[in-house]
Amino acid sequence: MSHSCPHDPFAKIRKEKGVLATEFQGKKIPMILRHGDVKQAAKDWETFSSDAPFRVPIPSEEDVRNVRQLPIETNPPEHKEYRKIVDPTFRKPLKAEFAHKIETLICSLIQDAASRESMEIVREFALPLQSRALTHLLNVPESEAEIWISWGTHVFRDGGDGTSKGAQLTEYLERKFDQASEKPGDDFFSGLLAAEFQGRKLTRDECMGFANLTFAGGRDTIINSVAWTIAYLAEHPEALPALRDDPRLILTATEEIVRVVTPLTHIGRVCPVTTDVGGEKVAAGERVSLCWASANFDETVFDSPEEVRLDRKPNPHVGFGSGTHNCLGAAHARLIIRTLLKEISSNVKMIEILEAKRNIEREADYSREVAYDSLQVKITLA
Ligand code: HEM
Repeated sequence: MSHSCPHDPFAKIRKEKGVLATEFQGKKIPMILRHGDVKQAAKDWETFSSDAPFRVPIPSEEDVRNVRQLPIETNPPEHKEYRKIVDPTFRKPLKAEFAHKIETLICSLIQDAASRESMEIVREFALPLQSRALTHLLNVPESEAEIWISWGTHVFRDGGDGTSKGAQLTEYLERKFDQASEKPGDDFFSGLLAAEFQGRKLTRDECMGFANLTFAGGRDTIINSVAWTIAYLAEHPEALPALRDDPRLILTATEEIVRVVTPLTHIGRVCPVTTDVGGEKVAAGERVSLCWASANFDETVFDSPEEVRLDRKPNPHVGFGSGTHNCLGAAHARLIIRTLLKEISSNVKMIEILEAKRNIEREADYSREVAYDSLQVKITLA
């Protein structure tokens, strides 16, 4: 099977039933699988609430962090006001000056990769790219990324070795807010310390909640998208001239990559009252999952969903979520993927995969490939 062939473990049950009751942390959580149902649930925050600290991600994250992530773990109307605080930061990738920085960054990574005999893409390309790009979003010196790179790829997940990986991030962020309160600048941390919510300053926990989500939410998602894109281009060299010659294809290809990779498989919501979800009873206070990965392969919406079509249009994927909480980092993620496609197609002749180890998300009732654990390649410039 092709390395980059997407895999849809939900196909059968999506068609038959539309809901998969899956065990997470010893409890069954119904996963909503159909595109229309997922979109409907993402809109209906009164039935499917995000006002649930630590419990929006599945598995839940009580052991990984000690603050409520913002703005994601809130409902309207508070959500809107929280989201407004960080909106200007997340709009920066729409500016030409910002795009230029990402272009310079990606060009230098490609040159470095091509100068080596071979490169391991996940750790040596995707992680540095994600980390350095984030410094520009947060307006901190690019050298700060070296600290984030040194944390490795799975830093925010518990490693199963008894150590809480989240503690490293918490300590780091506390230090950054301490420094910013002593000497405010024009960086993300200082901006949060100065921000107001309902006429008062944010608490330190609220600042930490915004920063925690920005670091955690934008890490594996970007790394997996970048690694998958490079593997795809290695296996489909015919895509390189096509992308180089047609800038519109770069736009549609970026959306198709987010659809087929769907780096965030699903996310949780809590039902405040007992709710029937496709025949599965969810007791008050229990959770459901909105499965973006299944919705993105719904054959009633996407023609031949298992095919990667770089020119797919329309492409109403929900890879960045849908409705109230749609991804704030989407402009940044799109810019990174588009620039990667543009620079590789303009400068690279060939990418050869030397060794690939897939990243498999293994749960009790399904397994899903999400890009790569490691990807050793040789890159030859044009
Ligand atoms: C929300 C996916 C990159 C920050 C979301 C949601 C999804 C998602 C599915 C919706 C969550 C929900 O409905 O509860 C992705 C994917 C990415 C990506 C696939 C990359 C390809 C990023 C990046 C950042 C980021 C780079 C930050 C640097 C956020 C934030 C939210 C969010 C702050 C919460 C928005 C809200 O609650 O209003 N993301 N994300 N994401 N994402 Fe992303």
